[in-house]
Amino acid sequence: MVWINAMKTLKQSIQELKENFDAALKKILTEQDLESARITFLGRKGKLSQLMTVMKTLPVEKKRTFGPAINQIKQECEQLLHQKKDELKNASFAQEELKKTNFDVTAYKPNTIASSLHVYTQFIQNIENIFISMGYEIADGPEVETDFYNFQALNVPPDHPARDMQDTFWLDVPGMLLRTQTSGIQVREMQKKGAPLALVAPGRVYRYEATDASHDSTFTQCEGLLVDKNISMSHLLATLQTFLQKIFKKDNVQIRVRPGYFPFVEPGIEVDFSCPFCESGCSVCKKTKWIELMGAGLVHPNVLKHGGIDPNEYSGFAFGFGIERLAMIYYGITDIRLFHSNSIDFLKQF
Ligand code: FA5
Repeated sequence: MVWINAMKTLKQSIQELKENFDAALKKILTEQDLESARITFLGRKGKLSQLMTVMKTLPVEKKRTFGPAINQIKQECEQLLHQKKDELKNASFAQEELKKTNFDVTAYKPNTIASSLHVYTQFIQNIENIFISMGYEIADGPEVETDFYNFQALNVPPDHPARDMQDTFWLDVPGMLLRTQTSGIQVREMQKKGAPLALVAPGRVYRYEATDASHDSTFTQCEGLLVDKNISMSHLLATLQTFLQKIFKKDNVQIRVRPGYFPFVEPGIEVDFSCPFCESGCSVCKKTKWIELMGAGLVHPNVLKHGGIDPNEYSGFAFGFGIERLAMIYYGITDIRLFHSNSIDFLKQF
């Protein structure tokens, strides 16, 4: 009697299973739906496997009736799932194709990736704004420069020992080089604009040098030049001190000068400034309270002459500093090579 009831139940259960399976099949929209239907109906602990467990309790001759029936349902379900899988694949392929044909290159998508100006650009803009506020123009010049503008016009004739101060990348074309300093812009601008004139020229320069944490073979300098009547050293010093006070936003930044040799200025000086971060010595100023910054001086009469300006009528001052070196102090950057590293972790900080 028990197995007669079990048989009846099994027959109904097979029918119900097929109905449930068909209903589930209709709801399948994704690969995940498909997989979960497979597990529910055909999985190791799924509905079909439960029916098989019941069937095993029946006498042998009944097993012969229900065994093939269950197997047939199993095959049907497998085949239907297989078909569904193909349908889903075809539908997603068609959708991808449709996306390509309907691709609208003008469609606007809001940029979700945060971006910012490179630290170089930000710092150079900062420098430029300070000088613009003091009445200076921004000038530019070629990075592939002639021997004339990079050296000769700056009072450095061929074979002058001062050429060794800046190791040069010479080009295959005779007399052409990658500029070693932005000072070449001085004579170019004097020739173009005459006197009076006040400019700053930030730009990339190249030196044939080994690199380390404070030296790079490609770096940027900022040149400054002012030419007018009766310009003296005190104008230069006041300008540099004002610039440093503005950039560090501290009124108490002082400067001090030491003699320095640059063939294109006379007298030439090296300028240091008081550490803006401490009063008694810290790691930035290496406990000296002073930081070395730049070369400067009064424009040599020969340079004014090369620029077409009469040194008897006009005088001027010039200065040049390394932008990375100042930015390193400003932001606390410990290795100059990070500027060109393209490291997102580094750039994200600014
Ligand atoms: C010059 O290049 C002169 N043209 C500066 C000048 C202009 C003097 C006008 C007088 C009048 P110097 O070689 O010292 O000078 O370089 C100027 C600055 O560039 C240095 O103070 C330093 O800040 C930076 N600098 C020099 N070499 C490197 C380097 N390899 N890597 C990074 N910065 C450097």
